Amino acid sequence: MTAQTVHLAYIDTAKELTLLLIHGFPLNSTQWWPQINGLETAARVIAPDLRGFGQSQVTPGPYSMALLADDCAALLDAAGVREPVVPVGLSMGGYIAFEFLRRYPERVAGLILTATRAAADAPAVREGRDATIRQVQAEGTAALIDGMLPRLLADVTLQQNSELVEAVRAMMAAASVDGVIGALYAMRDRPDSTQMLPVIEVPTLIIHGAEDKIVPLDEARAMQASIPNAALEILPRAGHLPNLEQPQRWNAAALHFLEHLRAELRGDAG
Ligand code: MLT
Repeated sequence: MTAQTVHLAYIDTAKELTLLLIHGFPLNSTQWWPQINGLETAARVIAPDLRGFGQSQVTPGPYSMALLADDCAALLDAAGVREPVVPVGLSMGGYIAFEFLRRYPERVAGLILTATRAAADAPAVREGRDATIRQVQAEGTAALIDGMLPRLLADVTLQQNSELVEAVRAMMAAASVDGVIGALYAMRDRPDSTQMLPVIEVPTLIIHGAEDKIVPLDEARAMQASIPNAALEILPRAGHLPNLEQPQRWNAAALHFLEHLRAELRGDAG
């Protein structure tokens, strides 16, 4: 007896949503280790090393946000991800997430922005990027790392979590000179995303460290005020790497958001 063909609906929970974790500067995908471990049951997690960083190929710069966003889209294609994803961008990763949304709106189901801002670089900041590019070209990345590390982390992290401080230092030290310079150009020339905030249609979660020394908390508050469907989670005792400094709280906020996003996508949100 042959079985009749029947169309079965099914839920594959782990694959229902894909998170695209986009790292900050000058880090790599290992900056997401608490999320890769903590969110994998809730979603498929894809965490690229951007070109020039981690294990990815190093190409000479300058890079651009468009190039880096296109790399992410090509990676999703290669991984067979056709459904809309949730880009999760930390700082520079957030700049790339905005660009991804601008270029591929149909591929975005929701957005998580952490330790990032919508505004482009002010003229003085652009000049600072040029000076850093010259310095890294001449001397390598050591001075950049020494100057940046204390600003990346909250004072409490610097004082009480030496293991994390050293892990972040090692991550920065692993970045290639070409990758660092390429990304500095991309950040220097990135478009301003402020105008797109009011037209972001997807649910958005903003997670920000209360003690972020690189992107002040007011930037996160301004984004929340401008994005129509955005929640803001402020993490105390966290600086510019809140997902590493307060991983449990960061993951709890993300899991809560994903639960609501899933309900909204199913159409049963209250
Ligand atoms: C980052 O953390 O990705 C960078 O510090 C962002 C920036 O320099 O604008």
